Amino acid sequence: MWYENKLTQDLGIKYPIIQAGMAGGTTTPELVAAVSNSGGLGTLGAGYMSPEQTKEAIQEIKQLTGQPFGVNIFIPEIPDVSEETIEKANEWLRPFREELQLTEPEIKKQAASLFEKQIAIILEERVPVCSFTFGVPAKDIIRKLKKENIVVIGTATTVREAIINEEIGMDMVVMQGSEAGGHRGTFSGPFEKAMIGTMSLIPQAVDHVNIPVIAAGGIMDGRGVLAALTLGAGAAQMGTAFVTSQESGAKKQQKEAILNGTEEEPMITSVFSGKPARGIQNEFMERMAEYENELPDYPVQNALTKEIRSEAARQNRPEWLHLWSGQSPRLSKGQPASVIISDIIAQVNDIIKER
Ligand SMILES: Cc1cc2nc3c(=O)[nH]c(=O)nc-3n(C[C@H](O)[C@H](O)[C@H](O)COP(=O)(O)O)c2cc1C
Repeated sequence: MWYENKLTQDLGIKYPIIQAGMAGGTTTPELVAAVSNSGGLGTLGAGYMSPEQTKEAIQEIKQLTGQPFGVNIFIPEIPDVSEETIEKANEWLRPFREELQLTEPEIKKQAASLFEKQIAIILEERVPVCSFTFGVPAKDIIRKLKKENIVVIGTATTVREAIINEEIGMDMVVMQGSEAGGHRGTFSGPFEKAMIGTMSLIPQAVDHVNIPVIAAGGIMDGRGVLAALTLGAGAAQMGTAFVTSQESGAKKQQKEAILNGTEEEPMITSVFSGKPARGIQNEFMERMAEYENELPDYPVQNALTKEIRSEAARQNRPEWLHLWSGQSPRLSKGQPASVIISDIIAQVNDIIKER
């Protein structure tokens, strides 16, 4: 059958559909389990979770599904940001804080140990799949995970990054095209040079690495999944399509922005977090654009805007909220995850039958 290949076999899943790990509350245990129970691979986005939250969510997922699932974590970044850069950013953010009645947050240095603790939990809980973004981990971490039969998946935005992932020992690699919603996974050069569309990126990566390639970016339905497989990918990873699913924990303002969005709206910005990401254009992006190159790097800027974003959501002000979305919002639907997956399978079957 069209949906069976080495990747589905290695992951132990029926369909070549992966729900992207999306940090920030979108990937509830209910969503992850619903995708896995429907024959895809659900993934917990644990990037911003504490070790305790990560463990609890994994245990909840296990209660809801006996099928394979993944956990996605971030390779830690500890940038050298001066006090002066932080002060300037706080100055530019002051008007937003004043209107939302917020005070300046205290910035804690990101603990690199979060990553090590999350790895320990993934090992302890014997999570079937562990995926990474924002770089690659040390070889010995990959070795430890693989020793426990945990499948390891990396993220790349260029062929060069795919080769780095293969050489370090990843079992599979997600190729993130420029259409993708959320943060760019670029880690080996300027992001502007790594804005390659999915259609170009996938076949070139497939030609240069021997590990299975997973296509991501702009894929929302059966047409996209079949196209990705035709280009040589072993599966499609979808983010935006699942943000608006019924089980998603995304903020209602983000769901609405995607459901009503067009392909012209999702733009790349680093003003929310200090790292380029694709989200639906809004007032915060427009007002902060002039300072974009002077803001602190990720994750410092992310910490500086965190309360502004959560308070904006609480006060129902989507114009100041990050509204991550890929370039295909017109294809989004507010359905249960199981329906998104069964529709994809039916659509691919129809396309194949008509040929
Ligand atoms: C809301 C949102 C959050 C995301 N968070 C993560 C994340 O935590 N880790 C990760 O590897 N990718 C993350 N991504 C990117 C996805 O892995 C994937 O590359 C992207 O969703 C594919 O494009 P699409 O959104 O058009 O499907 C996120 C995407 C979205 C839309």
